[in-house]
Amino acid sequence: MESPRDNLDRPMRDLRISVTDRCNLRCPYCMPKEVFGDRYEFLPRAEILTFEEITRLARSFVATGVRKIRITGGEPLLRADLPDLVERLSKIEDVEDLTLTTNGLLLAQHAQALAKAGLGRVTVSLDSLDAGVFKDMSGRAHDPQAVLAGIAAAEAAGLGPIKVNCVVRRGVNDGTVLQLAEHFRGTPHVLRFIEFMDVGTLNAWDLSEVVPAKELLEQIASRWPLAPVDPAYPGEVARRYAYTDGAGEIGMIASVTAPFCGDCTRARLSTKGELVTCLFATGGVDLRAPLRSGASDEELAQIVATTWSGRTDRYSEDRSDRTTDLPRIEMFRIGG
Ligand code: GTP
Ligand code: 5AD
Ligand code: SF4
Ligand code: SF4
Repeated sequence: MESPRDNLDRPMRDLRISVTDRCNLRCPYCMPKEVFGDRYEFLPRAEILTFEEITRLARSFVATGVRKIRITGGEPLLRADLPDLVERLSKIEDVEDLTLTTNGLLLAQHAQALAKAGLGRVTVSLDSLDAGVFKDMSGRAHDPQAVLAGIAAAEAAGLGPIKVNCVVRRGVNDGTVLQLAEHFRGTPHVLRFIEFMDVGTLNAWDLSEVVPAKELLEQIASRWPLAPVDPAYPGEVARRYAYTDGAGEIGMIASVTAPFCGDCTRARLSTKGELVTCLFATGGVDLRAPLRSGASDEELAQIVATTWSGRTDRYSEDRSDRTTDLPRIEMFRIGG
């Protein structure tokens, strides 16, 4: 099948698959614990795509142009038997990059099995190395050292190059970014800072909490000089910078101050099987219903292609007071 282009002439290249809506953290910017308490009802099993279903849909996406698959959540390592899914996805021909985004808490336990099943690499979220600040950012009193142990296990299992994602909120963790940068300097891991975004509807987002990437970059570069590096591939979300003393590189994901919708080739598959064409979408196209009522691979690929062809999303470039109040899907249902 001819790869479709959307209304802004963007091809579909990446698929982000959310395998669970559950998480073992309660980051206030994603799943505030006041909302996601003990009584919160997550999706029942019957609503969630099985591994067979995810794999069939993933094949349809690959037939339609996808070359890179990222497994996300919620926290994907909470999904039982995840290496089984990894193995199935790794066998799909034409997938050039198979990766996983995790908060790292359970990574030490699972890294070897994931690597053996065919996972290529991991991206780990870590907002601070200071235990108190980590708790403020993640809503739970886990020890950030557990995340570092996860990163070490992933490295030992060959799941590199490892990227470390840090969301920065002014007044919460901006005081510990230098500590984080210092920790990862001199390692092969790429630390990337993400501007706090207005995803979902629950995080009480306010522009005053966004630390612009430029400001952060100046702060880090005044301590350890940095020089820009060319993107690793067209449409890369992070801008790359290398330490001039050879101690590795960092990235800046300026999704608020310098949006990158023009090159956005990302499709998302929600936990319950909706195709979502933007991180800020208000809804998606149900693929589970046709899948469960017997649609063929060709029919599924056709729905994917038609949906992508009609895509007009460019939320981050269009952000304004008007758009920040729109209803939208929560990020943990469609993956970061
Ligand atoms: P690499 O393949 O390793 O370069 O990763 P990536 O940058 O494609 O994916 P990753 O999940 O690591 O993205 C990092 C973060 O950037 C995400 O967690 C989001 O916070 C943000 N991000 C990723 N994709 C989008 C997007 O399509 N729109 C917006 N606004 N933000 C995004
Ligand atoms: N703004 C920026 N990044 C976010 N993430 C989750 N919510 C937000 C937000 N509101 C990040 C996570 C993780 C990745 C999956 O997305 O911290 O690094
Ligand atoms: Fe969990 Fe990631 Fe959301 Fe934090 S940002 S609550 S780790 S899914
Ligand atoms: Fe893509 Fe939507 Fe993010 Fe823009 S806001 S980069 S269109 S996911």
